Amino acid sequence: MLEYLGLSLLVFHFAEPAYYYGYIKKNCCRTRNPEEDKEDPPISVIIPTYNERDNIRRKMRNVLESYPQDKMEIIIIDSSNDGTYDIIKKEIEALNLKNIRLIKEEKRRGKIFAVREGVKLASNNIVILTDADAFWEGSLVKAIKVLRGEVGAISCIKKATSSLENNYRDFYNIIRLGESSIYSTPIFHGELTAFRKDVLKPEEIPNVGADDSTIATLISLKGYRAICTDNVIATEIVPKGLEYFSWKTRRGSHLIRHFVRFFSKVVKSRNPKFKKIFVEEAYLHVINPWLLIFGLVLIGVSDPLLLIILLGLAVVASVISPISKLLRAWLSNQGFLILSQLYALRGEVIAWRKEKK
Ligand code: GDD
Ligand code: MN
Repeated sequence: MLEYLGLSLLVFHFAEPAYYYGYIKKNCCRTRNPEEDKEDPPISVIIPTYNERDNIRRKMRNVLESYPQDKMEIIIIDSSNDGTYDIIKKEIEALNLKNIRLIKEEKRRGKIFAVREGVKLASNNIVILTDADAFWEGSLVKAIKVLRGEVGAISCIKKATSSLENNYRDFYNIIRLGESSIYSTPIFHGELTAFRKDVLKPEEIPNVGADDSTIATLISLKGYRAICTDNVIATEIVPKGLEYFSWKTRRGSHLIRHFVRFFSKVVKSRNPKFKKIFVEEAYLHVINPWLLIFGLVLIGVSDPLLLIILLGLAVVASVISPISKLLRAWLSNQGFLILSQLYALRGEVIAWRKEKK
């Protein structure tokens, strides 16, 4: 009897996301065409930096070549102690840049404080938050043209410098784009989070680790859409070895806390399309991983041989099946989500340890 319950949990664990993925794919990728004739609006790009001396030069050049210079202001809020500040100053002089403001924080308080400070200083309505360790490809110009009317915020799709991360990126990018074409996605990326200050004021952003997803959800709660676009692809640098574990767990914990924090507000809100997407994502991040664990435990307790056969099949499938890459990424992600939930119990981590990359 117990093994049937265990098997049902396992089937549900895989079938529910597969169904959602199918539903999303059906609705996916009707990416709207930006109105080409519209002028490029002025933007303020905010880069928070904490010990980014290896990335900041490349980052500055990447941002500078992504948008017409006369329409862009860059604000860097730095709290480094590794010489990043001096590198930025030299780069500003070397390139004779007039559109950059560099602010040194008195002490390190965490990304969210830097972000809020930057948004307050921004002189344009459209602000873009972007991490120093991520680089854009594609057309920011096209992406920004979508940010008007009912669209209050946009984010990008992502690539990573590690193959395990990329194995599930393709899958998650499709989900982000699909949710965006249905209404909004509650998961945004710090690599590119652009929003309108007339829709969201800096003082409305709470002290959280997941500033990106928090902005997406707050904007959706206000009745505007927060969408990911494939006009910009951001590649982020992924830490290696053991550092990868702490990086995944910390980031996962930010996301878990975001879902818990907003759950009742979204459920009480009057936007059925966003509610459905948010509740599904909260389920996938918080509940669904446990079905896998409980399912395996129940089977192991009632029929250890069946457990061994299932684990053997899983190993084979993750090596030779047509979906082997996705399966490996999926299974490892379930482990990270469980660890992230335990980590999230420690409370909000605002000024996190920087993992070596
Ligand atoms: N000024 C300042 N002060 N900047 C900071 C601080 C700080 O205390 N801590 C981090 N930063 C800067 C980093 O230098 C980088 O440019 C950016 O904030 C993101 O920090 P990372 O350490 O690279 O964060 P992450 O890659 O693990 O997580 C990012 O992506 C997540 C998921 O998309 C962040 O953007 C998270 O907020 C986001 O949830
Ligand atoms: Mn990063």
